[in-house]
Amino acid sequence: MKVLITGCAGFIGSNLAKQLVKNNVPIVGVDNFFGNYDVSLKRKNIAPILESKLAEFIEGDINGQKLFEWLSKKSITHVVHLAARTGVRDSSKYPGEYLKTNIIGSLNVLNFARDNKIKSVVLASTSSAYGKNKTPFNEEQKVSTPLNIYAASKIGMENLAHSFHHLYGTPITILRFFTVYGPGGRPDMAVYKFADLISKGKQIEVYGDGKAKRDFTYVSDATDGILLALEKPKGFDTFNIGNSDSRSVSELIMLLEKNFGKKAKIIYSGKRKEDAEATLADISKARATLGFSPKVGLEEGVKLFTAWFRQHRKNNAF
Ligand SMILES: NC(=O)c1ccc[n+]([C@@H]2O[C@H](COP(=O)([O-])OP(=O)(O)OC[C@H]3O[C@@H](n4cnc5c(N)ncnc54)[C@H](O)[C@@H]3O)[C@@H](O)[C@H]2O)c1
Repeated sequence: MKVLITGCAGFIGSNLAKQLVKNNVPIVGVDNFFGNYDVSLKRKNIAPILESKLAEFIEGDINGQKLFEWLSKKSITHVVHLAARTGVRDSSKYPGEYLKTNIIGSLNVLNFARDNKIKSVVLASTSSAYGKNKTPFNEEQKVSTPLNIYAASKIGMENLAHSFHHLYGTPITILRFFTVYGPGGRPDMAVYKFADLISKGKQIEVYGDGKAKRDFTYVSDATDGILLALEKPKGFDTFNIGNSDSRSVSELIMLLEKNFGKKAKIIYSGKRKEDAEATLADISKARATLGFSPKVGLEEGVKLFTAWFRQHRKNNAF
């Protein structure tokens, strides 16, 4: 087994790479160090992984063909495709860029998988795909009401993957992740952003009234889901990967306050059109088929994240 991880220097990618190398699985990582947040964080994410003889890394762009020529010489057997334009907010500003990377870039990855007879392809999709559906979200629901361009681009990728499997038999598992947080987390996402501002005594901006709910998922549970999906390739299948516990943004803030020992200074601004009121994963299918079982609840996860964040701040002196 040799696993290609696209988006390897990103949040989930670097956590996955660490886990695979720890399990003695060779990896090839790819990332173009896109500047959706501080690129030095991405370089730091992968630095410890590259110390391993099991890890190879190339700075490359999934939107170009050169990368795939290089990759086709690397005896890759499995693919985890995480590279993407991420973040809901920016997708309204740069819709074409999101479609290019998340659909055409994904097409390039799928072409690579087909041409190299890859045994199992795992694609990262999102809870945002559920749009206006009622919670709990389950895989039987139609995903045809995306609330933002990011979600539309991921649904596009999912549909492309289905037709690809139908035409060429490529084994593909789609994982819909629910608000992943934890060590190496994305500075543009609420958990990291609020942690940063609360710990500095600065004001945080909450969109809406704080009652919006999210199924916060600790990153080791997300990477466990990926490992299970890699091991049990199906012809074509889709699974929710979440904690299956929907908690309000206000509850998240209270937990961060408790862990940092500081009161948050909150300003409430208008609810954003791109945001769902609530997300909650029905994970019964992933439990039954993959043996997926999330282990870290929000209380413990925020505690672990806070400990990491303090160390991270010390190391990076910001
Ligand atoms: N973090 C979450 O809560 C969450 C939730 C749902 C889905 N996802 C999906 O999981 C995947 C990983 O997300 P993440 O949170 O680690 O995000 P991330 O932004 O930290 O990681 C994505 C990585 O892809 C890289 N990338 C972007 N465009 C590229 C290109 N053209 N070529 C090569 N690399 C490119 C970026 O540089 C980045 O390091 C994404 O596909 C995302 O849509 C994440």
